[in-house]
Amino acid sequence: VVYFLPFFFPGDFDELTQDNNDILLKTIAEDLRNCLPLETMLSSEHLALQKIQQQPEPTVHVDAFLYDEDFIDSLCEQGKMSRNYCMVCGSHQTAPLGFISHSFSLLELKFIYHHVLPDLSGKVLVDVGSRLGTVLYGGYLYSSASQLFGVELNGDFCQLQDVIIKKYQFTDRIKVLHADICTQGSLLQNADVTVMNNVFEYFLNETEQARAWDYISHNVRKQGSLLVTVPSLEDSLSGLQVNIQLSSWVEEIPLNYDVYPEKDIDREALEQIHLYQVL
Ligand SMILES: C[S@@+](CC[C@H](N)C(=O)[O-])C[C@H]1O[C@@H](n2cnc3c(N)ncnc32)[C@H](O)[C@@H]1O
Ligand SMILES: *[C@@H]1O[C@H](CO)[C@@H](O)[C@H](O)[C@H]1NC(C)=O
Repeated sequence: VVYFLPFFFPGDFDELTQDNNDILLKTIAEDLRNCLPLETMLSSEHLALQKIQQQPEPTVHVDAFLYDEDFIDSLCEQGKMSRNYCMVCGSHQTAPLGFISHSFSLLELKFIYHHVLPDLSGKVLVDVGSRLGTVLYGGYLYSSASQLFGVELNGDFCQLQDVIIKKYQFTDRIKVLHADICTQGSLLQNADVTVMNNVFEYFLNETEQARAWDYISHNVRKQGSLLVTVPSLEDSLSGLQVNIQLSSWVEEIPLNYDVYPEKDIDREALEQIHLYQVL
């Protein structure tokens, strides 16, 4: 049901177009917020925690699925979070903190399923590094994909996804595998859609990243299948010791990022999303 009554309820456009699926995803986000620390990182994520400290600008983890802009604003007002850091200790000079999200936001998920991907009836989707499971829940609610597989290296996040999948009765179409993607060749070979949101960069060292991309490029081979990536393949592979010929593997399909003109702040995030078709 889409509630759209601008004449009777002038106000936030977003709130008027919220459908039941958005509300369900927001309820899932609330469940996850209640059992995860504010930075949404687990102590088992050594490398990612280390990498964030090596960023040139002070950077914090803020999960975009769990914390939207309004939520961050309210946390800042309560003094639980800050968008700025002090450049000179004791002075009032501040600069914006870098935010890194390890999940897609609700808007990015809607963009992917409503505007990036075609009708997925009868199709199999694989989310490489499924973490909190956002791509899987979004796919369950916003698409007709017949099977949604998540593969996640971190066992704690696999358990958490299983709790959500059972609670919301998504078990008929969603399955999460606790594994390194580099052991899942046949799953990748059968996928009609493969999703890769910043999978390796923060979680593997460069040698491991190169090996993983090599594995992906050898196994995501089903002709005509689709690959959704953040950032672009060019960006992901630059600086890595890999020998992958993009032009003989995939073709990029241009996307229209102007579908939410009222949401200018989110455009930058949407522009990181790229779509490719396997040749
Ligand atoms: C940035 S998160 C992506 C989350 C989710 N796909 C989304 O878009 O909301 C990347 C996840 O990939 C996992 N990961 C990294 N390397 C992996 C590998 N080789 N196999 C499986 N999962 C991996 C990490 O543990 C992390 O949880
Ligand atoms: C990368 O990680 C692997 C596995 O943890 C380790 O064996 C290797 O020495 C690391 N390589 C570098 C360059 O840090």
